[in-house]
Amino acid sequence: MKITFSALRLPKVGALAVLVAADGKLLSSGKELDKTTGGALSRAMKANDFKGKKDELLDLLAPSGLDNSRLLLVGVGEPKKLKSRDLQAIGGAIVGHMDSVGETQAAVAVDTVGRDKKAAAASAGHLAYGARLQSYRFDQYKTKKKPDLKKPLEKLTILAEDAAAARRVFAPLDKVAAGVHFTRDLVSEPANVIFPKSLVQRARQLQKLGVKVRALGVAEMKKLGMGALLGVGQGSANESQLLILEWDGTTGGRGGRPIAFVGKGVTFDTGGISIKPAAGMEEMKWDMGGAGVVIGLFHALAGRKARVHAVGVCGLVENMPSGTAQRPGDIVTSMSGQTIEVLNTDAEGRLVLADALWYVQDKYRPKAIVDLATLTGAIIVALGHEHAGLFSNNDELAERLTAAGKKVGEPVWRLPLGEAYDKIIDSDAADMKNVGNRSAGSITAAQFLQRFIKDDTPWAHLDIAGVTWSTKAKPTVPKGGTGFGVRLLNRLVQDHYES
Ligand code: BES
Ligand code: MN
Ligand code: ZN
Repeated sequence: MKITFSALRLPKVGALAVLVAADGKLLSSGKELDKTTGGALSRAMKANDFKGKKDELLDLLAPSGLDNSRLLLVGVGEPKKLKSRDLQAIGGAIVGHMDSVGETQAAVAVDTVGRDKKAAAASAGHLAYGARLQSYRFDQYKTKKKPDLKKPLEKLTILAEDAAAARRVFAPLDKVAAGVHFTRDLVSEPANVIFPKSLVQRARQLQKLGVKVRALGVAEMKKLGMGALLGVGQGSANESQLLILEWDGTTGGRGGRPIAFVGKGVTFDTGGISIKPAAGMEEMKWDMGGAGVVIGLFHALAGRKARVHAVGVCGLVENMPSGTAQRPGDIVTSMSGQTIEVLNTDAEGRLVLADALWYVQDKYRPKAIVDLATLTGAIIVALGHEHAGLFSNNDELAERLTAAGKKVGEPVWRLPLGEAYDKIIDSDAADMKNVGNRSAGSITAAQFLQRFIKDDTPWAHLDIAGVTWSTKAKPTVPKGGTGFGVRLLNRLVQDHYES
């Protein structure tokens, strides 16, 4: 979809959307249209009991006195109370509606309320951002277009008094949206397309944005002693990889200690020898969601030239059962030197992360680490699909993540860590085992990860198993891969780690 900005002159043709405030109060564009149509807007609002509440939409088809195909009245509630998130949702809802009715071209009038031209420009920019976030489809494998399927919106024009200022607000947001779309593509692709080496290839596209992209293969990881990660991948015909991304947007590229992002990249999780049941196993194509977010985040950071030094490390493996697969009871030695008794080969994410976390601390001495992983089914039991689970050894980092999540609409909820939980993963045969008992599954998984964090390093773990894939559409997130985490971490960087 193409998005353009232009001055606030109402187009005579095509679909046109106007914002309506609480109590059905028309803004200046609405008033103008009401006049031209001999009061059609007022009559329609009355007839349909339209109150201009947020999320309320009313469609006027072929309004007489105008050549426009339709006028869409978009309720926004109290204009002064609108936050950026609300405007994004409004933009997303407009695109969703135009898509569903088959309009291919539309304009939205973002009127200046009162005298505040600057606020109106920001509103227009955020509305455009929401529109962009909604206009994502993963349909390249559909070779037959159904004739009765509505066409998607192709062109959206945002009308604002100061179009140039609105465009300036939108430019960096559009780069973030591009990162979100990149992540959505990666998690949506099936596992015969995305496997460790092909995922590295995809990530190499970030080189043209200025991101350094490197990858280690099995031989190099063996030398580093990454027995935990390698054990997970040893049953697969697809070679395991460690993907390393680096972006330094600080002046002169002398960013100092970086902030690090670590992602679980299990390109398919069968469970291994502790194999999963058949029903729903296809979902495990998005078990690389953590890595997908890290890659999309670097797309966003580099795209908007963020003044930050960041490294990303993703453990990429395929968890398969085979004659070479690891067995329940195997004991592996991690890069940290700690040994792990693998009691369940389906608890593989933590094994992959253990070595990726150790690697990033060993090579980069980061000032903070955030890891992301579709780590446990238990986090879905606890938090459903509304919040990601947050675990941290550092209150400040946890609070920063919580605040960033609220601002962008990607909420996270903190769960506890503690010694009593940690004890549960002590092993009789090795330093630890990779599963606990039946209780507190997400917490014991996080405790496992914490054993690979050097004491003083601020660290946070996001369990995104419940939020990586969505079965119901939201204004700025269509069904399917959500890209949850990209906007959150981009915001964290912007608010706290950019110079
Ligand atoms: N990738 C899964 C977790 C998962 C489940 C993600 C559902 C998304 C949706 C992970 O590797 C896994 O299998 N975890 C096990 C751990 C258990 C064996 C301790 C689980 O949650 O059942
Ligand atoms: Mn698993
Ligand atoms: Zn998994």
